[in-house]
Amino acid sequence: MQTVNRIDPLRTAVETLRRDGPVALVPTMGALHQGHLTLIREARKHAAHVVASIFVNPLQFGVNEDLDAYPRQLERDSALLAAEGTALLWAPTVDVMYPAGFASNVGVAGVSEGLCGAPRPGHFDGVATVVCKLFQQVRPDVALFGEKDWQQLAVIRRMARDLDFSFPRAEAIIGVPTVREPDGLAMSSRNAYLSPAERAQAASLPRAMQAAVRALAAGQPVPDALADLRAALLAGGFVSIDYAELRDADSLVELPALGTSPARLLVAARIGKARLIDNIAVPAPKP
Ligand code: PAJ
Repeated sequence: MQTVNRIDPLRTAVETLRRDGPVALVPTMGALHQGHLTLIREARKHAAHVVASIFVNPLQFGVNEDLDAYPRQLERDSALLAAEGTALLWAPTVDVMYPAGFASNVGVAGVSEGLCGAPRPGHFDGVATVVCKLFQQVRPDVALFGEKDWQQLAVIRRMARDLDFSFPRAEAIIGVPTVREPDGLAMSSRNAYLSPAERAQAASLPRAMQAAVRALAAGQPVPDALADLRAALLAGGFVSIDYAELRDADSLVELPALGTSPARLLVAARIGKARLIDNIAVPAPKP
């Protein structure tokens, strides 16, 4: 695996790969776990070559967020990526990504607002801006993102559609199902902030969400199912709930009832020092 940290060598390396077959991009912020590595494995099925990026993007962290504390472990991450058959690691510094005078912003209205956008103003602009830059730098044929961050995936798809991206095309942005621990908790670097007791309680999140999906499928009205879900989370050890909502899977518009278009149940809740997020598909009720 080759590692590059400047734009010119990146372009040269990607062009060499592309001559030999399609290129997939997997953007990350490092501190890799099995969720990230599953994206790499999936990427290998879609392209001849996988480019991974590691960049802890200051633009997407708020002033009181954990930018400085975010784990940086490039050597360990490179070994994991190389073992999965990654061809190229793009690991720019902040100066390379945002040279002095950098002044542009990519904003995606609608899908960026509410849910995780509400308590984190500017977060999804930061994500869209860096992902737009990564797409321009690498010009991948396909790009893969985790469904774990459903709103992020919706923002990136909306951006690619609205701005007519060719590398990758909006249809070539692939969402990979959330990779979970054996007890159902979605893998996340934030799980490391949990004490053993909190970690055990955290599994109530996916359990309560699955129960809500079953209740909705059985015909329980949406407001009642969401109220039961919130109660189950508080009983399960969560100290507060940022949101627990049913949304249209694509536009993220709030759904007062299940309809015919795909729906998604999305939750963010706090336990100990961690804020955990999760989301699952809600099948349409049987007619
Ligand atoms: P990061 O949190 O490092 O995540 C990188 C990718 O891994 C994202 O697409 C995320 O959805 C995916 N991922 C994380 N946990 C996962 C899990 N349990 N199962 C499946 N996929 C999982 O998301 C970001 O970085 C950044 O916002 C980024 C897109 C790189 C822009 O800076």
